[in-house]
Amino acid sequence: MKIKTICCIGAGYVGGPTMAVIAQKCPHIKVIVVDINESRIAAWNDNDLNKLPVFEPGLDKIVEEARGRNLFFSTNVDQAIDEADMIFISVNTPTKTYGKGKGMAADLKYIELCARQIARVAKQDKIVVEKSTLPVRTASAIKNILDHTGNGVQFQILSNPEFLAEGTAVEDLLMPDRVLIGGDTSEAGKVAIQSLVDVYANWIPKERILTTNVWSSELSKLTANAFLAQRVSSINAMSVICEKTGADIDEVSKAIGMDSRIGSKFLKASVGFGGSCFQKDILNLVYIAKSYGLNEVADYWEQVIIMNDYQKNRFSDNIITKLYNTVSGKKITFLGWAFKKDTNDTRESPAIKVADNLLSEQAHIEVYDPKVTEERIYADLEYLNTRTNEENRSLLKVQNNPYNATQNSHAIAVLTEWDEFKTFDWQKIYDNMLKPAFVFDGRGILNTAELEKIGFICYKLGSGTRI
Ligand code: UDX
Ligand code: ADP
Repeated sequence: MKIKTICCIGAGYVGGPTMAVIAQKCPHIKVIVVDINESRIAAWNDNDLNKLPVFEPGLDKIVEEARGRNLFFSTNVDQAIDEADMIFISVNTPTKTYGKGKGMAADLKYIELCARQIARVAKQDKIVVEKSTLPVRTASAIKNILDHTGNGVQFQILSNPEFLAEGTAVEDLLMPDRVLIGGDTSEAGKVAIQSLVDVYANWIPKERILTTNVWSSELSKLTANAFLAQRVSSINAMSVICEKTGADIDEVSKAIGMDSRIGSKFLKASVGFGGSCFQKDILNLVYIAKSYGLNEVADYWEQVIIMNDYQKNRFSDNIITKLYNTVSGKKITFLGWAFKKDTNDTRESPAIKVADNLLSEQAHIEVYDPKVTEERIYADLEYLNTRTNEENRSLLKVQNNPYNATQNSHAIAVLTEWDEFKTFDWQKIYDNMLKPAFVFDGRGILNTAELEKIGFICYKLGSGTRI
């Protein structure tokens, strides 16, 4: 079946960039991205490309090229479903905050709402593609809803997990290591799989397009993220040992990364991993394992999360200890709030937990992040529910200039590895800080030896204690 029109429900970090790239690479396919959030759609349609709701290097150019040609953003979900041969579901699947599986299972209510809406609206056969990260066997739930509430229309469900990393989304979409498409093994299933293969084959070499059954595809996504997160937690576990022994984690990383069996990626010690996927996907795995009574498997993966929480708490504890065991009333500057560089996404960012810990010790925090908005930062704190909005606003300020943010501050904490931090005038920053001036580099990006020459007292994560 040749796809003429694609609809994508959900115009977020996944749906937006993915559809923009499909539209750019397949000018013969009409791509309509829909969302119930009106302001988000308005932002995608804004003539000012700086206002796009998702910041990703290179995305603005692609949107500019395809938008209005064969790429459209709309709030009319019904019309787009009706028009499309293929519907991607790209809505959010946060960890449940209530009821059974609270704090662990994925909340599938948005997915279910989408499935019901598709079933209600569809008048012709459709291929439905699950793009959101979902627990294994969600496809069968979607299929059940579609088959039993629809108007007798035939649906094929495919799983096509996204492997794009934020900050490099465009690159990852243009040149993915692989594209994974899971589908039914029936004849109709094979036809559906082939039609999605044909879409990707417009720019991706065929040998990189992998087809599997639905369950393998769903589980591969969770497995990939669990393995990556495990590497970060493993290297972070070693960072503590380095600090105690005088070894240097960067040297250890380099040494083991050159072992071709291990490889060099995902070995950067940090204040902890964040992002919308790692924690959620591992918790999903843990929940699945528990629900099959596989407690050893569940505990094994849960330790990756425990290690990550430990790393975040350890970082804030260290700041408190080094600042003479009290941060009450002291100004601490955060460089970075996003969960990693080149994105304005803050979901599960370690900065949130570190801030929460320090605010509980009555520190004053001033944050500078080149892309994250003030509203986002306060919303992240509000979500924690540790203190009132007023308290958060009086204890934490957001600055749009790093030099103001560091003025009269006791310490700087680097929470995101933004490149621009390396190019700051550190002498000027030092001159305007209170002495002794501390730098806690939670991302290992600064040249601490140079900073120490200026006079800073530096803590480099995973390196023999200098303070
Ligand atoms: C991840 C997966 O990489 C992607 O394939 C998946 O589909 C979505 O989830 P993303 O969350 O965008 O992507 O970011 P990623 O680059 O994987 O980083 C996750 C976190 O780990 C970040 O907070 C990052 O700073 C941290 N990290 C990564 C480290 O601390 N050290 C490393 O060496 C690598
Ligand atoms: P992700 O990182 O998975 O893309 P986001 O939260 O950035 O997650 O994006 C998900 C988008 O899905 C949000 O913009 C949200 O408004 C949208 N959404 C959720 N439920 C529905 C729905 N039933 N119909 C249309 N859009 C939806």
